[in-house]
This record gives sequence, C-alpha cells and structure tokens, in this order.
Amino acid sequence: MQTDPEQAIELGAAYLLQGKLVAFPTETVYGLGANAWDEQAVARIFQAKGRPADNPLIAHIAGMEMLDDLISRLPPEAEQLMRAFWPGPLSLVLPKSRRVPDLVTAGLPTVAVRWPNHPVALALINRACVPVAAPSANRSGRPSPTLAAHVQSDLGDQVDLIIDAGLAAVGLESTVVNVAGAGPVLLRPGAVTLEELEQVVGPVQVAGGIVSGPAPAPGMKYRHYAPVAPLHLYLGQPLSTVAAIKLQAQSLFRAGQRVGVLTYDEYLDQFAATAVLSLGSYQRPAEAAQRLYGQLRAFDEQGLQVILAQGMHTTAGLGLALQNRLSKAAGHRITWA
Ligand code: TXA
Ligand code: MG
Repeated sequence: MQTDPEQAIELGAAYLLQGKLVAFPTETVYGLGANAWDEQAVARIFQAKGRPADNPLIAHIAGMEMLDDLISRLPPEAEQLMRAFWPGPLSLVLPKSRRVPDLVTAGLPTVAVRWPNHPVALALINRACVPVAAPSANRSGRPSPTLAAHVQSDLGDQVDLIIDAGLAAVGLESTVVNVAGAGPVLLRPGAVTLEELEQVVGPVQVAGGIVSGPAPAPGMKYRHYAPVAPLHLYLGQPLSTVAAIKLQAQSLFRAGQRVGVLTYDEYLDQFAATAVLSLGSYQRPAEAAQRLYGQLRAFDEQGLQVILAQGMHTTAGLGLALQNRLSKAAGHRITWA
C-alpha cells in the first residue's frame, strides 16, 4: 500500500501505462483502475474481482478533452448535467465511440463516463493521460470499499498498487444516469440526487428496480453489497422500525442466535443483540451513506447469523440511494413496519 501521494501517483500512472491494476481513491468509493484503451488490462479487472463479463465498467476522465475519444455524440442533456455536476459523483451513460474496447462496455453501444472529484484520482488520470476504466475495488458481491484496508482485504494479492487516501467522503457509488436515449433515466441513485438532476434537466425517469423489482442497469441484477449474514431491512417511521426490530432481535437473541442490529445514534441503547452498530445520527443521511459499507463489513467480523437493519423513512434526497443499497444488501428481504 502506498501513502506518499506524490510517489504513489507517479508509480500508479506508470503502472496503468504498463497494463497493471491500480486501486485508487475517489470521493465515492475506491476504484480498481486499468487503462481503458488496454483490453488485456481491462480483462484483468474482471478476473481480479470475479466480475461477470456482462457488467460494464465506468471510464474515468479528468478533463473534457478526454471525453471526445470515448463518445460518438454528446446529447444536450448530457452537456447540461456535466456542466452542473462534473467533477463529481455522477456517471453518464453515453453513445460510445468505436475506440472503446467492447470489454469495457460489455458489448453495449454505450459507455458510462465519470469525471471524479478527488485530487488523487484526478492527478493519477492526468499523469497517465488515458481514461481509466474502474469498477469499485471490491470482490464482486462484497460492499464497495470506503477505505484502502477494504481493498487490501478483498483484492490485496490481485492489485499491483493500492493508493491510500483515507475514508471516502461520500461512501456510496456514483449516481448513474443514461442520457443516450430519448430522455434521461436514473439507473443508480447516488449523492447527486434525483431532485438535483431534475432541477438541471427537468423530469428524469426512474428505472424500475431501484428499491425493488427487476434490475435497471446491467450490473444491478446481481446480488450486491451483501454482508455474510442475511440482512433484513425494516422501513417506516423510526418509532415503528425501532419497535419492530427490538421485538425481533429480542426473540432471536433469547433463542441463542448471534444477532446484529444496524441503527442510528439516537436508538443505540434500545436493542438487546450480539452487535449493535450505528450509521451516525438519524438526522444526517450523508453520515449514514459514508458509514454504511464499513459497518456492513464490520458485521462480517462478528460471525452473526442474522442482521436487522433500520432504514430511513424517506426516499427524498440521499434517502433514495441509501434505501437502494440497503434493499440490495437485504436481497429484498424488506419489512414495512
Ligand atoms: O462511484 C462509482 O461509480 C465507483 C467509483 C470507483 O467511480 N465505480 C463504480 O463502478 O461503482 P461499478 O462498476 O461498481 O458500477 C458501475 C455501474 C454498474 O451498475 C454498471 O452496470 C453501470 O454502472 N454501467 C456501466 N456502464 C453502463 C452502460 N453502458 N449502460 C448502463 N449501465 C452501465
Ligand atoms: Mg461495484
């Protein structure tokens, strides 16, 4: 693992140009990067993650001049969204150019592009001077990494370099919007919220399956973000969810089961369970987003048989992304309390 930023960026850029894999920080989660023009390097990403080949990657850029080589057309909505939210946690699905290897896009006629807002990611891409294809740097099916240590434990021996820049600021993967079709479609909610998108481009269609139902993006049909123990998600007003989880945790715990509860600071002292972890204050969804994946991983170290997780009552703002990730971790085992 490399922590001296200057040296790490220099080495990382050289490695990318040699076809090696470099895990790097972004403001959302850590990415597992390869030179997007290098098919063999991109193939190593799929191998390292155990990622199905029909799940396309995001190409990361560090300036508009890199966009031209990746896409064949720039729809007007895309331009508006780029102006408003780049650099930042927004990936745009655009018509791809012929130069983009099919492996990057899983054979689709579109490519997802993101200009991240993290100084290390930007310096790395700029230094290498190539777009960097990067999924989240976790093993397929594990929570995305918000710390370099998560990358190390999932992929340590498969990655040529891990650049450590501490805890990721956002904690959830970027918002993904398809702007290659007739109107913008939200495929994955994230820190750029639906409300913010609509302020810029007007109505945005929300793909089905964001909280339940069939998968909207190719990669979203897989069981994702899953902790080892089965997770049950409780949705509703906090008083109801706390009451429901309390009852269930008590009966399982008394029956001798190792029970985990995921809740918020305000309700920490309410539960009898093997492990009770907090996502921070119920009043601060951004904190919950930043902590979610780390806490799911922390549960994995406790040898639990079941996890009962308290969702938030709203899908407004960041609530939609939180509910999406939690319901995926739950494999759609959801109780409306
Ligand atoms: O925040 C992020 O987006 C992180 C950091 C590293 O940038 N990356 C990330 O990549 O989350 P990944 O591969 O874990 O998720 C990419 C998502 C998948 O759900 C994939 O199916 C979707 O974007 N996607 C990529 N290309 C697409 C395309 N051409 N059409 C539709 N969906 C696409
Ligand atoms: Mg991922």
